[in-house]
Amino acid sequence: MSEYKPTQALNSPQEEPLYQQVGQKLYQQVIQHANPDQKLPSLRLVAKQFNISLSSAQSAYQYLIDQGLVMVRPRSGYYLPETVSHGQLQPQIPAANPAAERVKVSNLVIRMLSMGREHPLINLGTAVPEPALLPLDALAKIQRQISRKPQWAYGGYSPSGGEPLLQQALAQHLYQQGIQCLPEDLLITNGCTEALRIALSECTRPGDVVAIESPTYFTILQQLESLGLKALEIPTSPETGIDLNHLATMMSAITVNACVVNPVGHNPLGFVMQETQKNALIDLCYRHGTRLIEDVICLDLAYADRPLRSLRALDNYGVVSQCGSFSKSLSPSLRVGWLLPAEDTASATARKFQNNVSVSTPCQLSVAYMLEQGVYQRSVRKIASQHKLRVHQTREWVLRYFPSGTRVSLPEAGFVLWVELPEPFMAMPLHQKALGKGVMFLPGDVFSPTSDLYSRYLRINCCACPEEEVLEGIKRIGRCF
Ligand SMILES: Cc1ncc(COP(=O)(O)O)c(C=O)c1O
Repeated sequence: MSEYKPTQALNSPQEEPLYQQVGQKLYQQVIQHANPDQKLPSLRLVAKQFNISLSSAQSAYQYLIDQGLVMVRPRSGYYLPETVSHGQLQPQIPAANPAAERVKVSNLVIRMLSMGREHPLINLGTAVPEPALLPLDALAKIQRQISRKPQWAYGGYSPSGGEPLLQQALAQHLYQQGIQCLPEDLLITNGCTEALRIALSECTRPGDVVAIESPTYFTILQQLESLGLKALEIPTSPETGIDLNHLATMMSAITVNACVVNPVGHNPLGFVMQETQKNALIDLCYRHGTRLIEDVICLDLAYADRPLRSLRALDNYGVVSQCGSFSKSLSPSLRVGWLLPAEDTASATARKFQNNVSVSTPCQLSVAYMLEQGVYQRSVRKIASQHKLRVHQTREWVLRYFPSGTRVSLPEAGFVLWVELPEPFMAMPLHQKALGKGVMFLPGDVFSPTSDLYSRYLRINCCACPEEEVLEGIKRIGRCF
């Protein structure tokens, strides 16, 4: 293992106990470099490098041992558990339906999600982070500032395109990520969901074909269903993303009007596409005249140790429409997102006006101030490292408490895990049993328009609640096998 050096200073002592901060930083660094059989840094080395006492270093390791993230071998030292793997246990990719088909998943999705509300349970199904992982105190403070200007915040409708202050702050934020756009090029939407809907409506008509990643986030399927579009499922790897050869073959055979991808922190797979793959996808769509729609909802929260540019930042042809929101990084209930259309913002803005006039002004102003004051940027960095830790520890728990042969994704952004159960286990009956034990996850069936394609798969939210509850949830599911 290359010499291990802490790269970031520790936070102020009042935020988290020192042993926990050291434990988290230590884990984040070793997970990138260590193999399961490699010895981790000694107590003495950790104490020296973090400038802490030997007993604090020991508490940091004990914290990781309690989380199941590190094991101790008597008279030898600290190691990662054997379950830690960098690839070989990732879920497999089933062959997708080669035909483009109308979608019918909405009822199933609504039924599944409503269960999380009906039952008092540990809800590992919905992809919402627990409130402690959102900067809600900072948001509340900013909202108090806003409410001191009631005429501005509550006295009228915002323009349909968005509050100029937010468009300005967002354009600046995107500029930092390599995207050059004017504030008025951005359409502020009710979350990423509305951005996706408008982006799809802008480039398709009922009956058109849209290529999607398989598995994909179910709201994309719901949009295709309600817009009368056909889904063409493209097999997608938890490591490298959409299968470009398969997509190219299909594009040569039929007209594909749009392609929707989630390139950074894919839901449910968690991968971050490589830059070469992203460029190849842009080229492919350009050559076939296909609109490429990217959903970058987790971009700001990515913890991958490599370049994280969006497709839009790499697009030299003008084929990419970008959809994003602050639902995972700031607050889902603000309902603030954006669409940066590939071409005509005026037409997209007219659709927005027809849909619901504009987004709530106080919500837009809250995001604008969070961005302007740099509060957002500081908080996402912290949240991303918390996600990484939670994802790795939950992965360990799944591998420990689920039957042997279970495969689990290894995300580089986001906070959900995609789990493949070994034969003969099926996610739907398991889901029923788990509900009986007071815990919920989402069965794989809602992530594809093809029934039974993902009947042995499921998605788990690692950040739905405090870690002890997540662990309890995983143990309870484990008792259902
Ligand atoms: C990939 C992805 N896109 C879009 C959304 C919906 O975003 P919003 O709540 O901003 O509409 C989600 C929510 O889980 C998501 O995971």
